[in-house]
Amino acid sequence: MSILSGARIIVGVAGGIAAYKAADLVSKLTQAGALVDVVMTERAREFVAPLTFSALSQRPVWADLWEPTGAAAARHIDLGRAAQLILVAPATANVIARLAHGMADDMLTAIALASSAPLVIAPAMETHMLAHPATVANLATLRERGAHIVPAEPGRLASGEVGTGRLPSTATLLGAARLVLGSGGDLQGRRVVVTAGGTQEAIDPVRFIGNHSSGRQGFALAEVARDRGAAVTLIAGVTALATPYGVTRIDATTAATMRDAVLAACVGADALVMSAAVADFAPDAVAEHKIKKREVAARDGADMTLRLRRTPDILSELDAARGQFPGLVRVGFAAETRAVQAAARDKLARKGLDLVVANDVSQPASGFGSPTNAVWLVRRNGELTELPLLPKETVAEHIWDEVVALLPTRAARA
Ligand code: CTP
Repeated sequence: MSILSGARIIVGVAGGIAAYKAADLVSKLTQAGALVDVVMTERAREFVAPLTFSALSQRPVWADLWEPTGAAAARHIDLGRAAQLILVAPATANVIARLAHGMADDMLTAIALASSAPLVIAPAMETHMLAHPATVANLATLRERGAHIVPAEPGRLASGEVGTGRLPSTATLLGAARLVLGSGGDLQGRRVVVTAGGTQEAIDPVRFIGNHSSGRQGFALAEVARDRGAAVTLIAGVTALATPYGVTRIDATTAATMRDAVLAACVGADALVMSAAVADFAPDAVAEHKIKKREVAARDGADMTLRLRRTPDILSELDAARGQFPGLVRVGFAAETRAVQAAARDKLARKGLDLVVANDVSQPASGFGSPTNAVWLVRRNGELTELPLLPKETVAEHIWDEVVALLPTRAARA
């Protein structure tokens, strides 16, 4: 279950043109199971009608602290108290200034002041307003007090100018919410390394040997580890997926570069989950120029023979150098098309792993690119758990549960 499921989140919407984008944010948070209370500033209501947000959140929208029934005034304390997170998106220069100075002159600032929930602020405004020393200082004040600031993005602004000041995408804002909500999770203070996607081994400047890995399981592993408080290094092979918010991504698209990246990232790390599909063989030599049929025919006849050499086996190298990685929990994957469990047990022993996640990639619902996966978890003591077909995110939760149980205590590591 996602960390957003059941989470009490206040979304504060301030009066900037990006207020319309907050509608998508509220929709996605609600779809993910969060209980979203939208609080709008007076100016925000000039950009978007409160009804838009109440329809999306299926909850009342709070706007006017001073409305005559007194309901809003009565609720601002308990709304603030119940909230697990206050996410202000978009945050205008004005609302940032009022938050930084502890003002409580409307519903949003009053709730923020009455709440001890973590504050996430996504500034969105014209470039000069964002860069003004007053805004910079106000953001610094909020940051010092523990607020998490989601950086505004560069691009075309409502003024028609190009500059920094755009509200980040809904995916980024959701990632920031998940990061902050999960910061006290069971991987808090841990550093984990995840590899994802497939490698590509060049034949010539145009062709390569690759595989069907999409990177989805690995990216889900990185996101879930972040949601549980870990500092995550994601070593990505070839994938079309966007970098999850708050995750450090290193691109490594060949077996050799991935080996170097993994060995470097694992120094001082607590766990490695190696979900990347690493090529076992690469062309012996990379042709400098595009290979021409005519040249092949002149040399070898009509057909071409490609000589392949073994690539470094990353997990085996790590096992051989285990002294350099004290306490590192190591998880491997076994993507097979037959005798899955036997192959998984063999890999676990051969690569000195703590856990192998095995799946049958010949099954369409657990194959490459699918949003779901059906895996066996094979443990070092020979125990095996078969998980049903699950979303890759849920599979990731199970894998981290196993890792958490295996993590040596800090005292044991020391
Ligand atoms: N792996 C690795 N280095 C490689 C190839 C694979 O570290 N050069 C890792 C994968 O990321 C995965 C595990 O090893 O976690 C198993 O990968 P797989 O290719 O299935 O295993 P192989 O050792 O290549 O075994 P086999 O040839 O028998 O399938």
